[in-house]
Amino acid sequence: MKKTILTGLRPTGNLHFGHYFGAGRTWYKIQNEYDFYLEIADVQALTDNFNNPEKVRTNVYEITKDLLSIGLDPKNVHFFIQSEIPEIAELTVFYSNLVTVSRLQRNPTVKTEISQKKELFGNNGESITYGFLGYPVSQAADITCFKGECVPVGDDQLPLIEQCREIVRKFNSIYGEILKVPEPLLSTTPRIKGLDGNEKMGKSLGNAIYLADSEETINKKIMGALTDTNKIKKDDPANPEVCMVYYYHKLVNNEKNINKICSECKEGQRGCVQCKKELIEAMNTFLKPIREKRKYYDDNPEEVDKILKEGTEKAREKAKETIKEVKKAMKIDYYK
Ligand code: TRP
Repeated sequence: MKKTILTGLRPTGNLHFGHYFGAGRTWYKIQNEYDFYLEIADVQALTDNFNNPEKVRTNVYEITKDLLSIGLDPKNVHFFIQSEIPEIAELTVFYSNLVTVSRLQRNPTVKTEISQKKELFGNNGESITYGFLGYPVSQAADITCFKGECVPVGDDQLPLIEQCREIVRKFNSIYGEILKVPEPLLSTTPRIKGLDGNEKMGKSLGNAIYLADSEETINKKIMGALTDTNKIKKDDPANPEVCMVYYYHKLVNNEKNINKICSECKEGQRGCVQCKKELIEAMNTFLKPIREKRKYYDDNPEEVDKILKEGTEKAREKAKETIKEVKKAMKIDYYK
C-alpha cells in the first residue's frame, strides 16, 4: 500500500522558479511513490483575497496548468479544488473547538503573514478576520480529510503542520484514535533567490521568473538581473558568487558550462552581456518542454477541467469516508 500524501497551493498567482525548485520538482520525482492528493486551496486563498474572487478563480486554472506543465501526471496525482469538498469545511468547524485563539495568534506563519498584510489586517493585525486567523484549522482539515500521512512543504509551513498535529492529538484523545498524525516532508532545496539578489523570490517583490513567462519576458528580466556591482568594465575580473546571472546558470545550465562560466568570470574573460545572453538561451532550453506542455493545456482547457473534476471526485470519495468516521466518533452521526 502506498502512503498518502497531501499538499496544497493557494491559487493567487502563477508558479515561479522558487515554487519549482523548492517544491514542484520534488513532487514530480515522487509522484509515482505515493497516493498523491494535490489541493488547489481556493478557500484558503479567499481568506486574504475575499475581496478579489476573480483573481482566485482565474488562478485555479493557471496554477493547475503550471503543475501539469512541469509533468505532474493526473494518473498519479489527484488534483482537486478545496471548495468542492464540503467535508473540509465541516471538519474545520469541528476542529475549531480544539484550538485556542491565543494559540492561533502565536502561530509564527500566521504572525508573519499578518505583518505582511497591513493593508488588509491593519498595522498591528487589529483588523484580522476570523477566517484568516483560523486558516491553520482549515489546513488541518485539508490534511486529515484525506488521512494525509506526509505533507511535502517548505519550512515556512512547518508551524502549520505542527498546529495540525496538535489538533489531531487532541481530537484522538477526546474522540478516539480516528485521525493520523501527519509528518512534514521537508523540502531540502534552499530558498531560490530573486533576480535582484533578494533572499526570497516572490510576486510582491517583483523579482520572480515564472514558468509561464514568454521568451520575450525572460529576455527582459535576465538583461536586468543583478550582477557583481564592483565589475565596471567588460574584462574586469568579478565574483560570480554575488552575481544572480551565475546563480541562475547554476540552476538551469550543465556542469561543464557552469565551471567554464565561473572561471572565465573570475579571470575577467567574460562580459556580463554575453553571460546574460547565454543564460537566456539556457533558460529557454530549460523551459521548452514546460512551455510545450503548457501550450497543449492552453489549447485544450476542457481537458484541464476534466482533470480537476475527476481528481475532485476521487478526493470527495475519500473525504466522505473520513467524515463518516469523524461524526460517528463525535456522536453526531444521526441519519446515515
Ligand atoms: N498554506 C499553504 C501555502 O500557503 C497551502 C496549503 C493549503 C497547504 N492547504 C494545505 C499546504 C495543506 C500543505 C497542506 O502554500
